Amino acid sequence: MKECLSYNDVLLLPQYSSIKSRSEVNLESRLGNKSYTLPIISSPMDTITGTEMALAMEKAGGLGVVHRYCSIAEQIEKISYEGIRAAAIGVTGDYVDRVASLYSAGIRIFCLDVAHGDHSHMEVAIRRIKDTYGEEVHVMAGNVATKEAYERLSKWGADSVRVGIGGGSICSTRIQTGHGMPTFQSVLDCSQSEYDTTIIADGGITTAGDIVKALAAGADFVILGSLLAGTNETPGQVFKSKKGKEYKVYRGMASKEAQKDWRGSFSSNEGVSTTVDTKGPVAPILDDLANGIRSGLSYSGARTIFELQGKAEFVRQTASGQIESSTHILRR
Ligand code: IMP
Repeated sequence: MKECLSYNDVLLLPQYSSIKSRSEVNLESRLGNKSYTLPIISSPMDTITGTEMALAMEKAGGLGVVHRYCSIAEQIEKISYEGIRAAAIGVTGDYVDRVASLYSAGIRIFCLDVAHGDHSHMEVAIRRIKDTYGEEVHVMAGNVATKEAYERLSKWGADSVRVGIGGGSICSTRIQTGHGMPTFQSVLDCSQSEYDTTIIADGGITTAGDIVKALAAGADFVILGSLLAGTNETPGQVFKSKKGKEYKVYRGMASKEAQKDWRGSFSSNEGVSTTVDTKGPVAPILDDLANGIRSGLSYSGARTIFELQGKAEFVRQTASGQIESSTHILRR
């Protein structure tokens, strides 16, 4: 049986560096014909990316994918801002009309956003969109866990693939279905492919260090949910506890609560709904992450993500290594 590693199981070996300042490190990454200065995408979830988050992500140099859990008209309204823009769609139901409307509204990056992307519906949807709109549109497809699935989606015409099944902080897929794969391993496996379709590591990222590991393992971008949850720019109401503490909802899109809201009923429940403390504006959080990632590259002596991927040397750490790697004074 194959042994699969997750972010916490590995560390990057520090390497000789001549980088004198973090400002020498360039975090540029390409998605289709566009280059981004921050390799971070905000997740197309209804408690993460609406108009405000998409705008904030763009301002920070990354990308926000506006969620699809609303009517076509509501989604069009959400993406009606000046900038570069991306929108999520499904692969069944109203997706053909949705793509057509979004395309007419100027959208050229479509995220085919489903839990199990290695599926015949996905093949039909990718081929249909590519046949209709050609190379002008960027198709971000997923999610997948294995190299074989990544290659299938690439063959069907995906321009980028979201890699990671079951690792999200609000995800209960592995508990409910027994399926999934540690996301770090999924990314590492996909990066061994001869296809060079853009890899987007998705789910389970909790620190800047995890982002550095994902990029070093072969990801071109990461998608974030929980790290951005609770910020001012996320959609949703701010609640106040009796003690005056402010919080917002963060929920899996396959949670009972989310399904009830956008479908009126729920079937297989593969996510949870929770609350998180409010965190203020997202910009300082993205800044902190960017600084951590730059520092990470400099520990590997790498000035670019490409250089990092060439130089990265991973080692495994034991359970006591994992404790040593944490801020262990806080455990005492
Ligand atoms: P996080 O960054 O660890 O919070 O993970 C966010 C990712 O979890 C998203 O980008 C999705 O890929 C995934 N996700 C969102 N909702 C659900 C769900 O209900 N079940 C399983 N995975 C989900």
